[in-house]
Amino acid sequence: MFYYILHLINQTIDTSRKLTNKSIMIIMLAELPETHQILRQTCRDYADRELAPIAAKLDKEHLYPTKQIKELGSMGVMAMEVPEELGGAGMDYLAYSLAVEEISRGCASTGVIVSVNNSLYIGPILKFGTEEQKKQWITPFTTGEKVGCFALSEPGNGSDAGAASTVARQEGDEWVLNGTKAWITNSWDASATVVFATTDKKLKHKGISAFLIPMPHPGLSLGKKEDKLGIKASSTANIILEDCRIPLGNMLGPRGAGFKIAMQTLDSGRIGIASQALGIAQASLDCAADYAHKRIAFGAPIGKLQAIQFKLADMALAIESARLLTWKASLLRDSKKPFSKEAAMGKLAASEAATFCSHQAIQILGGMGYVTDMPAERHYRDARITEIYEGTSEIQRLVIAGQLLKEYQP
Ligand code: CAA
Repeated sequence: MFYYILHLINQTIDTSRKLTNKSIMIIMLAELPETHQILRQTCRDYADRELAPIAAKLDKEHLYPTKQIKELGSMGVMAMEVPEELGGAGMDYLAYSLAVEEISRGCASTGVIVSVNNSLYIGPILKFGTEEQKKQWITPFTTGEKVGCFALSEPGNGSDAGAASTVARQEGDEWVLNGTKAWITNSWDASATVVFATTDKKLKHKGISAFLIPMPHPGLSLGKKEDKLGIKASSTANIILEDCRIPLGNMLGPRGAGFKIAMQTLDSGRIGIASQALGIAQASLDCAADYAHKRIAFGAPIGKLQAIQFKLADMALAIESARLLTWKASLLRDSKKPFSKEAAMGKLAASEAATFCSHQAIQILGGMGYVTDMPAERHYRDARITEIYEGTSEIQRLVIAGQLLKEYQP
């Protein structure tokens, strides 16, 4: 069955690659091309059948979804944009956004594992890697057998990404890395990481370069698995580098280009997190609307009460507007137009929608929203991180304002 889905996905390549301005307009009016509708439905069915029923257990027991990630790999979802010849699905970013939203609707932890592998790990290698690096570092990561991670933040600098203090020095034909990277999603489950380190601190952000390190590897160790508020089935930990030696050929992109590689990678990554947030927001609305039909109070389903209707309407509005922004960012990226501002807008709107909708869902469910018998409390916990990782909401506002002021330059 999975091979059939992969075949179906592959059939969509031509259509997805040829999105015209007219089809972009149609999508903005919320009618996706047929191929994307099929992909969306396939991912939705998979999430309903395989992820939603186990999401609470994965969360409670902090379990990495090994089997499900491999199945998603067979479906092409672990490497959506990677060309077929490298083992990927060869699809566009809109398709990727749809897939991450649907998967996250079933399980937000699985959603972020998929998102980090696609946008933060594979993304920069696909864009900046040599042909040899792509074969070595991407192909084994397309099947779900292996996942990658992205090590930018440090204990002393998260939002201020340009202040990297992890150092890479050249010794003969090797790079030797020292420093600590913090909050690394997928770290405990990863088989490789993209790491950012400075080769010359005096150059500030222009001294930062990107490197590829296999995991495990001598000189690389992991900190404790963080015990988090949400997305508990995905691992987060420090990556500690102590005289970690890698060949000179493991530098990704030109020397000193690391900061720009990180920024461009995050522009794309933010579309992935926006999509994850949309999935959480939609799951919250699904749960609240269903409950509003079933729960009887004052002699009728609570959905008859305007107080509940207004909440549902505001939730739907927040989701739909954030979704259109996220799709717009994907479509701009697919048509090779600038999309930093739109990706930041999509992430900001979608993550705030997830926080708002999951809060409202608990309010509608009342006591049932506060206990683990229902998924609302998990959505509430999972939503919170979407306003923090891959750039906080405050950073998204900075990115939006920075672009905006450039557009208004007198
Ligand atoms: N694309 C390409 N280049 C970019 C860029 C972009 N989106 N944004 C900035 N640049 C370039 C600028 O043009 C500038 O280039 P020059 O030096 O040639 O002039 C250079 O980068 C520096 O730009 P700024 O002066 O704007 O940089 P800054 O230090 O003020 O930082 C920032 C800007 C937006 C705050 C940035 O640091 C940022 O995005 N911070 C947030 C980092 C972040 O999202 N961290 C999350 C880590 S990943 C994660 O969450 C872990 C996980 O596992 C999920």
